[in-house]
Order: sequence, then structure tokens, then C-alpha cells
Amino acid sequence: MSQKILVVDDSAMNLKLVVSSLAPAGYEVVTAQNGREALLRAETVQPDMIILDVQMPEMNGYEACRRLRRNPHFSMRPIMILTANNSLEERIRGLEAGADDYMAKPFEAAELQARVKALLRRFVPHALAPATTQGKLLSVFSLRGGVGVSTIATNLAAGMAQIWEQPTALVDMVLTSGQCALMFNLPLRSTWADLASVPSEDIDFELVERRMLPHASGVHVLAAAPRPEQSELITADKVATVLGELRDHFPYVVIDLPHDFRETTLTALDASDQVLAVLSPEIASVSMAACMLDVFDQIGYPRAKVTLVLNTTFDRGALARKDIESTLKMPINTVIPFAQDYFVNALNRGVPPVIEMSTRPLGALLEDWAFSLSSEQHRTNRPEKPGAERYNASPNAHSNAAPMRANNMPTVRAQGAAP
Ligand SMILES: Nc1ncnc2c1ncn2[C@@H]1O[C@H](COP(=O)(O)OP(=O)(O)OP(=O)(O)O)[C@@H](O)[C@H]1O
Ligand SMILES: [Mg+2]
Repeated sequence: MSQKILVVDDSAMNLKLVVSSLAPAGYEVVTAQNGREALLRAETVQPDMIILDVQMPEMNGYEACRRLRRNPHFSMRPIMILTANNSLEERIRGLEAGADDYMAKPFEAAELQARVKALLRRFVPHALAPATTQGKLLSVFSLRGGVGVSTIATNLAAGMAQIWEQPTALVDMVLTSGQCALMFNLPLRSTWADLASVPSEDIDFELVERRMLPHASGVHVLAAAPRPEQSELITADKVATVLGELRDHFPYVVIDLPHDFRETTLTALDASDQVLAVLSPEIASVSMAACMLDVFDQIGYPRAKVTLVLNTTFDRGALARKDIESTLKMPINTVIPFAQDYFVNALNRGVPPVIEMSTRPLGALLEDWAFSLSSEQHRTNRPEKPGAERYNASPNAHSNAAPMRANNMPTVRAQGAAP
């Protein structure tokens, strides 16, 4: 089997030059156009070696190299930096970022081939790669509308991507009217509708991945179709296939569920490792939460998978938490405070608060909460600095962001969140 090389460059011309130098030597070459895309492609194609350009939009080659090195799959695979800037300083930066070799452009095809061959000789395939594990699938659900399901799903997905610096899938299952893409200000280039005509047996990860909308935070959104009638062809069987593919390739898959128990919703619930059942502190929402728990019991859905989240979507007259808990006979795991200004502002600008406010109370609360919902393996290994600092520092990150008001923030913390 030929060895696979992932080549990352934002210039189509440079990609062509590298591909045409390596393909004749018998390598299988796959490409990506920036650092973020490279991280996702690397996870999916598991290349034997990676060649990175430095100056790229979204994420530069050094940052991509550092992140790849932190990932156990790529900590030992050869990485070469290929760049126009051949100064000593840049070479040192490349090696400090974890690259094994550094080559200047323009290059001779023969030299590139020779270096690639030498680097690949040093790598013993599979000996160091950990067994692939399935990602964690988290659904956000409520039978009552408007309680913050989409707000929570988008912040959770962005929080996971930010903490673990790995791509996270966000699946909009509100097939007829979902807003996930809008909440990240992503144009609807492709959606679930593009999967509607593909038979389930022909759906593989690459096909799904191409339909997802990547956001600079690392969240990849599978968006709802722009028109309700386009969603009718999405069958439960297709949902099961797509979710299966996503959980095989993303460490976290977050699902924004609709307020119903239709077949596609039940399929997503069945596939979920954990269901975050959202309610707001008012009587109708509590009553619908009781109804949801009742249906779960009737259909034999395990209560152990269900976590109650109380989202304070209004500022006056809220029912007391203990009264809600005694009505539902179930503890509330997390309370999200009333923070209308922050959420509405975030919505209008397409930047979830967990991203741009990670150092403020609401952002920190959401990030802590995402941490507490992370896989056990991850939780024993918390990164020192959240990824948000790097995201916020990047030139592409919400450069028009208006400053947020830090006053008036309630101090309720997520229960069970990590200290
Ligand atoms: N903790 C909160 N404090 C204040 N406003 C909030 C809070 N959580 C959500 N909101 C606001 O409530 C509104 C509804 O939120 P969202 O769209 O996330 O709910 P939903 O359950 O997904 O609704 P839909 O039924 O439309 O799908 C939004 O304007 C959102 O900004
Ligand atoms: Mg919604």
C-alpha cells in the first residue's frame, strides 16, 4: 500500500507543484488549504507524513504543527515545513513548533522526494498510533421551544473545540428550520439537503465532511436545509449513518434537536451518549420536561443518559430550582444564568459567548461546563491554556467584535463543573 502524504498550502499553484513532485514517486497525496482544514484532514486520512506551508489563512503552519504534535496520533509522524521564508529565525521557529525538517521554496523535485523518503524511513507506521476510539455524542433537547437549546448546543460545540483544540461536529437536527449555521454566521454553502438524494449506503465520512461548514473556532456545522420541504427526504436511517460516520471521526459530536419525538429525533437520541435536557424556570417548560421524562420512561430510554439543564431565559418570576427538582424528581445538573445582552449580542454577530468571553464569567461558565461533559480520558488531561486565547488573537477571528459589558453578570456556576 502506498504511503499517504498530507500537503497543506493555501496556494493552488504550490499544491500542484508539490503533488506533481511526489505523485510520480508513488506516494498518495492528499491536500488541505489551511491549518484548520489540515487538522481535520489529518484525523480522517491518517497520513504517514505532513508537509506544511507557513503563511495560510485561518491557521498558520506553525500553529497547525504545534496542534498536530499535541495529538497522540501525530506526535511522532514526520512533519516538514515548506516555505518561501528561509531565514535562520524562521527555520528555528519551525523546529520549535515540532517540525522534523524545513525546506525552502522554490525546491527541486528530486530533493523533496529524497527528504520525504528519509523522513518516512524514520517513522514506524502504526507502532505508536493509539487504537481509534469513538467520539462522544451529546444531544441537546427540549419539548418546549425557545428555552435555549440552540444557544446551548452552539456554545457546547465551540467550547469543546476550544478546550481540546480539535475539530468538533455540530449537527443541526432541526431539519425544517435550524439556525446553527446562522449562530456562527456561516453562509449556507451546503446543508443536510445535499445529502437528501444520496442513498444511505453511499454515504461515507468524506461525503459528509464536504457538506459541513467549517468555522474558525474548529466547529464543523452540518446545517439544516434552507427550505423545510428539502428536509423531508432525510430519513432516520440516513441520520443513523451520518451520526455513525461523524462519531468515528470527531472526538465530540453535538446535536441540536427539535422539540418533537419524530423518528429522526429518536434515532439521534438513541445514538447519543448523553442528552442535555433543557428547561427554563417557568411552568410550561417544567410541564414539558415532565412529559419528556415520562416518554423516556415509557420507551425505556435510560435515565442515566439524561442530564437536566436549567436555562434562565428571563429575569423575573423564575420558579425556584428546588421546586422544579421536586416536581421532576430529578436533580438539575447545571444552571445557566439570565444573560440576555450577551446571548442576543452573540447571536446578532454570529460569535457564541464561549469563544469571545472565555475570560469572563459567562464564557468561563460555559467552558467549564463543556469541560465537565468531556470524555473521561480528556478530563484527566486538562490543557493549561484554553484555545480561545489563540482564537481571539488570530486576525480572522471576529475582527469586528464590539467590546462586551462585563458588569451585571450573575455568578451562578455550573454544578458539577470542574474547578
Ligand atoms: N440564559 C439566557 N439568558 C437570556 N437569554 C437567553 C438565554 N439562553 C437563551 N437565550 C435567548 O433565548 C432565545 C431562544 O434561544 P434559542 O434559539 O437558543 O432557543 P431554542 O430552544 O433553540 O429555540 P427554538 O425553539 O427556536 O429552536 C434567544 O434569543 C437566546 O438568545
Ligand atoms: Mg433552536
